[in-house]
Amino acid sequence: MPYENILVEREAPIATVTINRPNKLNAINWSVIAELADALEELDRDDTIRCIVLTGAGDRAFVAGADIAEMSGKSPMEMLAGAFENWDRIRRVHKPIIAAVGGYALGGGDELALHADLIIASEKAKFGQPEILLGIMAGAGGTQRLARTVGKYRAMDLCLTGRQATAQEMHEWGVVNRIVPDGQHLEEAKKLAGEIAAKAPLAVRLNKEAILAAYNTTLEQGLAYEKRLFALLFSTQDQKEGMAAFVEKRQATFKGS
Ligand code: COA
Repeated sequence: MPYENILVEREAPIATVTINRPNKLNAINWSVIAELADALEELDRDDTIRCIVLTGAGDRAFVAGADIAEMSGKSPMEMLAGAFENWDRIRRVHKPIIAAVGGYALGGGDELALHADLIIASEKAKFGQPEILLGIMAGAGGTQRLARTVGKYRAMDLCLTGRQATAQEMHEWGVVNRIVPDGQHLEEAKKLAGEIAAKAPLAVRLNKEAILAAYNTTLEQGLAYEKRLFALLFSTQDQKEGMAAFVEKRQATFKGS
């Protein structure tokens, strides 16, 4: 499917989705988020793809936020009706998504990175929720995901001051998995994607599902859920192959069945 605002590159078993509005620092307008949701769902259905990298075009930004010019004239009901459904579609993608952040990840850009499952950032990347500077607040999960990920006080710091946090800070806070030298974020993210893509796909999927469930459940419910998913994996060929390979001291070949 041709997209206007994003690029989709398949290098099975990984795929890279690039938000391609470098002149606007990859700001997300409503078409971008709709195209992103379409592309990610399509890749989620593609059996040849096992891990997805999400990045921004150019060397200045991952995404510098929702498109302020587009947003400025919207009514409350337009915002409520139009803005969030596609974010929810992205949240429901089963395959792991790695955000490769090379520059600004602000507002909706920070929130998009927080929709990913792992974050690789260049040493010059900047993260933040500057909506407060526009007289509004985060609306695509920023307050909730930050509070759950970095805690109340750090979330307050970012959301109430609107300041830009460095990649180093976000790494120390446990949001950024790895910091890499300037310009190497995409390459490193692809390397990591390749590593994950070599694992048993159903086990990858259920690991992601179980970890994300921790945000919505009590510990008791989460533990019970994990136990059921764990048992379910004993119905797969990949479980038999993985354990046989260990016993036979050879490399496992996983098929996703
Ligand atoms: N929405 C729409 N356009 C945006 C944008 C956004 N969130 N962020 C950047 N742009 C556009 C600018 O309008 C400019 O377009 P123009 O050249 O047609 O005027 C272009 O991207 C480059 O941005 P510019 O502001 O000139 O770059 P800078 O280096 O001076 O500043 C930032 C970079 C990221 C600090 C600044 O662009 C910024 O603060 N952006 C908004 C961040 C934000 O508030 N995000 C949350 C939105 S809810």
